[in-house]
Amino acid sequence: MERKLTCCLLLISLMVIGITSSGANMIKKPPNTKFHYYSERLRRNLLANTLGLTPPMGWNSWNHFNCNVNETIIKDAADGLVSSGLAQLGYTYVNIDDCWAEKVRDKNGNLVARNTTFPSGIKALADYVHSRGLKLGIYSSAGFFTCSNTMPGSLGYEEQDAKTFASWGIDYLKYDNCYNDGTNPTARYPAMTRALMKAGRPIYYSLCEWGDMHPATWGFRVGNSWRTTGDISDNFDTMMNRADMNNMYADYARPGGWNDPDMLEVGNGGMTKDQYIIHFSLWAMVKSPLLLGCDLTNLTQETLEIIGNKEVIAINQDPLGVQAKKVREDAEIWAGPLSGYRFVALLVNRGTWSTNITAHLEDIGIPPKTKVQVRDLWEHKTLEETATMNLTASLGAYGSKMYLLTPLKEQSS
Ligand SMILES: *[C@@H]1O[C@H](CO)[C@@H](O)[C@H](O)[C@H]1NC(C)=O
Ligand SMILES: *[C@@H]1O[C@H](CO)[C@@H](O)[C@H](O)[C@H]1NC(C)=O
Ligand SMILES: *[C@@H]1O[C@H](CO)[C@@H](O)[C@H](O)[C@H]1NC(C)=O
Ligand SMILES: *[C@@H]1O[C@H](CO)[C@@H](O)[C@H](O)[C@H]1NC(C)=O
Ligand SMILES: *[C@@H]1O[C@H](CO)[C@@H](O)[C@H](O)[C@H]1NC(C)=O
Repeated sequence: MERKLTCCLLLISLMVIGITSSGANMIKKPPNTKFHYYSERLRRNLLANTLGLTPPMGWNSWNHFNCNVNETIIKDAADGLVSSGLAQLGYTYVNIDDCWAEKVRDKNGNLVARNTTFPSGIKALADYVHSRGLKLGIYSSAGFFTCSNTMPGSLGYEEQDAKTFASWGIDYLKYDNCYNDGTNPTARYPAMTRALMKAGRPIYYSLCEWGDMHPATWGFRVGNSWRTTGDISDNFDTMMNRADMNNMYADYARPGGWNDPDMLEVGNGGMTKDQYIIHFSLWAMVKSPLLLGCDLTNLTQETLEIIGNKEVIAINQDPLGVQAKKVREDAEIWAGPLSGYRFVALLVNRGTWSTNITAHLEDIGIPPKTKVQVRDLWEHKTLEETATMNLTASLGAYGSKMYLLTPLKEQSS
């Protein structure tokens, strides 16, 4: 209760800060040229790194390997992205999660790669990953230790660690929230933002604050994406729960700053093919980062078919950058706008019984009686009939239909 109140107060105070600062912007004459003014505004909003204009795509070691990660696994993942063709589809980040460093810093206070598992060091690994045309990500915590409690966190060492990461050629930082000192994330996370901005290399900044203090409301000035939920696990209910929680913050997502309902579990074996299709469809349309979490050296055809669906990936990478939302309370229908006056809709059967789900074009945001061409993004087929009012799908257990809707130009008479 008390915590809820603090959250509300924080929200209100953030809003007040937002109002007064934008008010100040309006009153104050912009310095120098218009260009300077706009670039300053962009700088504040995009963390000066211009990264994440579409959601990042890649792979992270945690969901499959947890703490059992080493440099061979990371190199194999990079090779796997390239040989499977996934790199070509846009999966370019190769991200090391927790457990990569020695428990103590060196005598100069620097983080050092764990010598038993990363004997070549992170710089060499970054060189390798870059040589494959990919980018390397790393992990730390806004606390004294990372969540595994096997290595130091970066609290109090933000500038030093950001410099280290930049010197190694790191391209992405996932920043967790464990073993912190109890101070607000709204202080601890920006400390790393400032450090990264000084480090001299654009590094995508992923806030992993678990949604505690509603980072969607303040994350845009701080990082390129922010977790809105606790960790995902490889089962249908947890996955859907993460999607539902993330949905509450839909309006805050935009190019340069995305809601993050956690990484993908597709290919890890805990869900059926149909459930993984729902998982991937949702993550794509809500503009989540698409970070694979399976073993890329042992991909099944089925997994590749899901994570390699170009039409669904294109929904995620659509330049309009608007997060799709759940649009009906009484039926599981998710929808959102895309560039070119197009829309995406997902009709989902969350249960084990068969059901018919009807979406009205109005639910999706399309004016009634508009003629739309309907494309099924998993069947890769354009339906023969155009829709004008309703879109009904007959769905078996955990069935779903993902449609791309393109309004047809009226034939003038
Ligand atoms: C790795 O750790 C072992 C044991 O602490 C040490 O003897 C060895 O010198 C270390 N190697 C490097 C390259 O730091
Ligand atoms: C990494 O782990 C794999 C699987 O446990 C093992 O085969 C490989 O030798 C390890 N490599 C290093 C550098 O520790
Ligand atoms: C590869 O995946 C299959 C199932 O998809 C699994 O049974 C097998 O153990 C995996 N092999 C390795 C080396 O992980
Ligand atoms: C779904 O609609 C079809 C066609 O109208 C009908 O035959 C079927 O019984 C319906 N299924 C359910 C579960 O209501
Ligand atoms: C659309 O669905 C609603 C109820 O779900 C129904 O009343 C209406 O007749 C349908 N319209 C068309 C054109 O099928």
